[in-house]
Amino acid sequence: MRALCVIEGDGIGQEVVPAAVQVLRAVLPGLEVVPAEAGWGCFTRRGVSAPEETLARVRACGAALFGAVASPSHAVAGYRSAIVTMRQALGLFANIRPTRSLPLPGARSDVNLLIVRENTEGLYSGRERWVGEGEAVAERVITREASLRVARAAFELARREGRQRVTIVHKANVLPLTDGLFCQSVRSVAEAYPEIAVDDLLVDTAAMRLACTPERFDVLVTTNLFGDILSDVAAVWGGGLGVAPSLNLGAGIAVAEPVHGAAPDIAGRGHANPVAAILSAALLLRHVGHEASAATAIEEAVHAVLAAGIHTRDIAAPGSRVVDTDGMTRAILAHIG
Ligand code: NAI
Ligand code: MG
Repeated sequence: MRALCVIEGDGIGQEVVPAAVQVLRAVLPGLEVVPAEAGWGCFTRRGVSAPEETLARVRACGAALFGAVASPSHAVAGYRSAIVTMRQALGLFANIRPTRSLPLPGARSDVNLLIVRENTEGLYSGRERWVGEGEAVAERVITREASLRVARAAFELARREGRQRVTIVHKANVLPLTDGLFCQSVRSVAEAYPEIAVDDLLVDTAAMRLACTPERFDVLVTTNLFGDILSDVAAVWGGGLGVAPSLNLGAGIAVAEPVHGAAPDIAGRGHANPVAAILSAALLLRHVGHEASAATAIEEAVHAVLAAGIHTRDIAAPGSRVVDTDGMTRAILAHIG
């Protein structure tokens, strides 16, 4: 990876992304950084949340690090979430969200699961409208093409990582057409991966089992909204949103992005945990190829710092040495040396 498009976005994105860039520069000294704008702040200044020139820079680099965007929970004329726009415009069809046990106080040590979320359609299709006074409708779009694409991504990752099982998460008992199509598509892809077992679970059962017995999961593949919600449930087992990484994958494009949002409750105070952004950058390095050793160096440094009891407030416990965003970043950089 030579050039990286860097989009800080809103809120704590402006704190955790610069931290992750510092860490990336420590392992890849020649890295060229191409800044770009997106998000609510960008919308209020320029009237567009994901400008065409930002999309062009991501395409040109092929790799990007995205912080977070703040989206209002009410309709604003002309506004659409920058990250949802980017996922669709750039064809970022799969969102990879691993949850691994981290060396944190009181944490369990047996969780190592991977949620692969369809990223371009489902309930995030953008087809939402009023149909009359007091009635609004959102269309949940499932296509064979997008289901096959995300299934291939899930099985390829499972194969590459030597994983044993892919669980399809759905609600086909209530949504037999849409989720029936999703399940059938994933199962047809599974045939090309005979070494990997495949099973399926209803989403509500999956949520309960993720909350109770996360160690029993390996890879989960699911539609957009289910994956969004379940990955926050799973993130609890990895130490919470402050340390949960993700990677958006498209054809020849990868965008790293922490699972968390803009966190307006802590933005601007130096409390944000940069680990989620830093581990997202490591996922990106591993994915783009040729950089696996740099990714491992980052992950090992993060593990060492957490195991040493150096924690931001969100993951602190009695006995922690509590640091701010900058202190955590400096500790990780010191480990990378
Ligand atoms: P959030 O993820 O921003 O925050 C949830 C809670 O986790 C907050 O208490 C926050 O302080 C804490 N938290 C999150 N990341 C943290 C970190 N790195 N270090 C320490 N604590 C952290 O979700 P919330 O509050 O529901 O949404 C806030 C805004 O972010 C909304 O405008 C929402 O639309 C947007 N959002 C954007 C996402 C994205 O850009 N991909 C994803 C989720 C939300
Ligand atoms: Mg989310």
